[in-house]
Amino acid sequence: MQSVLNTAKLLRRSVTIKNHGFRQIACLASLPETHQMLQKACRDFANSELIPQAAKHDREHLYPEKQIREMGKLGLMAVAIPEEFGGSGLDYLAYSIAMEEISRGCASSSVIMSVNNSLYLGPLNSYGTQKQKEIWIPHYTNGEKIGCFALSEPDNGSDAGAASAIAVEKSDRYVLNGTKMWITNGFEASAALVFATTDKSLKHKGISAFLIPKSIKGFSVGKKEDKLGIRASSTCQLIFEDCEIPKENILGKPGNGFKIAMQTLDAGRIGIASQALGIAQASLELAIDYAQKRKSFGKPIAKLQIIQQKLADMALSVESSRLLTWRASWLKDNGKSYTKEAAMAKLAASEAATFCSHQCIQVLGGMGYVSDMAAERYYRDARITEIYEGTSEIQRLVIAGQVLKEYLA
Ligand code: CAA
Repeated sequence: MQSVLNTAKLLRRSVTIKNHGFRQIACLASLPETHQMLQKACRDFANSELIPQAAKHDREHLYPEKQIREMGKLGLMAVAIPEEFGGSGLDYLAYSIAMEEISRGCASSSVIMSVNNSLYLGPLNSYGTQKQKEIWIPHYTNGEKIGCFALSEPDNGSDAGAASAIAVEKSDRYVLNGTKMWITNGFEASAALVFATTDKSLKHKGISAFLIPKSIKGFSVGKKEDKLGIRASSTCQLIFEDCEIPKENILGKPGNGFKIAMQTLDAGRIGIASQALGIAQASLELAIDYAQKRKSFGKPIAKLQIIQQKLADMALSVESSRLLTWRASWLKDNGKSYTKEAAMAKLAASEAATFCSHQCIQVLGGMGYVSDMAAERYYRDARITEIYEGTSEIQRLVIAGQVLKEYLA
């Protein structure tokens, strides 16, 4: 563990490498040194601190508090946030690599990390004033506190522009009423970035983003969902009843909330793609390991061509979606448009996670179906990656929209 911490200290001192080309990162061996060190540090941490506890946390729906605090100390709760605000000051490729490794160990921990990094701290860093950054970032970078992102509602998920939580202007504040739903980290979060409309007739142009502390009067946590997977992370309703929010808590300009949400989700989708990749990679490793040990027809099943075909298809889906994910990160790190590429990465990686965890159970047979092995957890955890931060159907809509735009340009 100490060596991991030493590596983390090194990482905190290291400078962001922005100018490496995609050709260089296309092969694992030529990742920049910083990123290789980060990858190793995260893998060591996942092996020693996450994997031994993941099944228990999942079974008992236990929030991995100790692990999240450790991840905070390692700089993993704010990978791409500047050092001046307590972040690690690394780039999005680093974030993607760290997310994959953490997810390989525990997908619940990785979604807690992802929401804090890309859906809470990310928009604060991009749109916050200096004062907002000083207030709302510091304790959220080191695992002491976590944040959440509240966009979906009981009646609007995919149609994010149809928000009906309403914020009414009243002198120097807004009065917020409404319910937000499917909020990852909702139970433990100390603050939420909440989207609400100030004028429903303006549709998406009436939506604003509000920074809201959990402690404020009129803010309560509703139902905590009992889920198929990622059971060690919380998913809750957030309820606002005559909740008075000072005007200085608006993030960005009033009416710009929908654009902030969309841009935040572009970045968030790289995080979920990386989470899905970690689940797919873990499924592949487990299938390979089991196939070498399990004997059938007088030899290890890894020698059977039907099993080899499964392993080949799994490896292909993992590596192709990793390249898409790293490409999206690289585009973001280099200030280029990446809406389409992030959607492609999330779509491909989430389908890879579902496919690989399914195939992993096929390779393990009955052993894959019982909870003694991690395969059934991977299968359950994979499923949500095709749903949150935009379903696969929404990713296809986004990709098609961008492809048509490119064609017509
Ligand atoms: N970046 C910047 N601007 C964008 C954008 C983007 N990626 N996408 C759209 N916009 C802008 C458009 O340019 C347009 O701007 P103008 O009004 O100035 O012309 C405006 O937003 C409206 O665009 P659309 O007409 O395309 O919007 P739409 O209403 O048709 O919705 C959508 C598009 C892609 C379906 C969008 O609603 C969407 O992404 N839905 C899915 C929502 C989602 O992912 N929810 C996940 C919840 S969060 C979660 O799961 C978190 C968790 O806890 C893990």
